[in-house]
Amino acid sequence: MKSVLTLDDFDLKGKTVFLRVDMNCPIDPNTMEILGTKRIEEAAASLKSLQDAKVVIASHQGRVGNNDYTGMSSHAEVLQKVTGRSIKYVEDVMGVAAQDEIRSMKDGDIILLDNLRFCAEENYEFPPESASKTIMVSRLSKLFDACVMDSFPSAHRQHPSIVGFPHVLPACAGRIVEREVQNLDNIMTVAKAPHVIVLGGSKVPDRLEAIKMLIENGRADHILLTGLIGNVFLRAQARIKSSLGIKREEEAVAKAHALIGEYPDVFATPVDVAIDKDGERIEMDVREMSRGDKVYDMGPKTVEYYSKLISGAGTVFISGPAGFFENENFSYGTNSLLRAVADSMATTIVSGGHLTSALKKLGLTDRINHISTAGGALVLYLTGKRLPMISALEDASARHRNQGLS
Ligand code: 3PG
Repeated sequence: MKSVLTLDDFDLKGKTVFLRVDMNCPIDPNTMEILGTKRIEEAAASLKSLQDAKVVIASHQGRVGNNDYTGMSSHAEVLQKVTGRSIKYVEDVMGVAAQDEIRSMKDGDIILLDNLRFCAEENYEFPPESASKTIMVSRLSKLFDACVMDSFPSAHRQHPSIVGFPHVLPACAGRIVEREVQNLDNIMTVAKAPHVIVLGGSKVPDRLEAIKMLIENGRADHILLTGLIGNVFLRAQARIKSSLGIKREEEAVAKAHALIGEYPDVFATPVDVAIDKDGERIEMDVREMSRGDKVYDMGPKTVEYYSKLISGAGTVFISGPAGFFENENFSYGTNSLLRAVADSMATTIVSGGHLTSALKKLGLTDRINHISTAGGALVLYLTGKRLPMISALEDASARHRNQGLS
């Protein structure tokens, strides 16, 4: 990572450091329990390199109004368990309580602030200069000597905590960002065609934006659609006739329709699906579906069709589950596609927290070239787009070097 400074370029002993991580985890909507802790476990690597600093950790969790939007107390407990270090949870982000806690820290202390998205500003995107003028960044940056950016899964967001702090503070990449960028750069220099992208998951607007860029930049010869984004394309092909019940659905369907028209040979959509009928898995051809049927997984014909394309690939990138995989009745598609990816001779990248956990459960982790808990950020990285967090770190690094500091 020549263009970006890392923790090895700084001596942060005794300094007060802002550590931006991404502990945004899947949450059980009924119990609000954390379902997968991989992203919290990953935060431990940078903490190890910051042993004698005063470390103020911050992350977001969920989106305002969604089922996974909650505070960070359980995250603090998990982090304490995985690091074996004492983590003080502060139920505040930038108010007097948080500021007083930060001022009274001693070397080696670690605190975890509350969900950054409790601050309205963190729910909007800004250019770095404006982000640095938000109340969050202007109040808190006065208390820090440096910031360590380690939230690779949210590196595609221009939120104040991601692009604002590095604009005004000495900044470097944390261990996750360092590892991700190094591995991905190495992989992308040897990546061969055909490029097969297997795309699922639920963040439909992000996926639609990325699809166009992936195709235009020669990163997607085949896009195999699954999950909610697959259902949007099935609706655009008039195979699903009823609403999917998602936000701005008609706009998404129109975009999918335009993409199919523009690139007719790129997309593959499920030919058979599994729906839920009174708690049971019922498989059917997409042409047999009735209005109102809810698609929860793909069927065996689609698995066979997609697996053939995967086995002929030079590079395979898979992101997002193929359906409602948390329920065993509907995990078949996700598990089968992961097996096909692991069996292929291609260079393989598996992306996102859900697939990372599923891969671990299947015991296939060692058979993949690069595994990342990042989802949307990784998809955008592969399009060749400069991620806002990486740009902010590059600018901070150039500033640092111009001042003759390294
Ligand atoms: C993710 O899970 O992709 C990141 O944490 C970013 O979350 P967001 O899409 O809600 O910004």
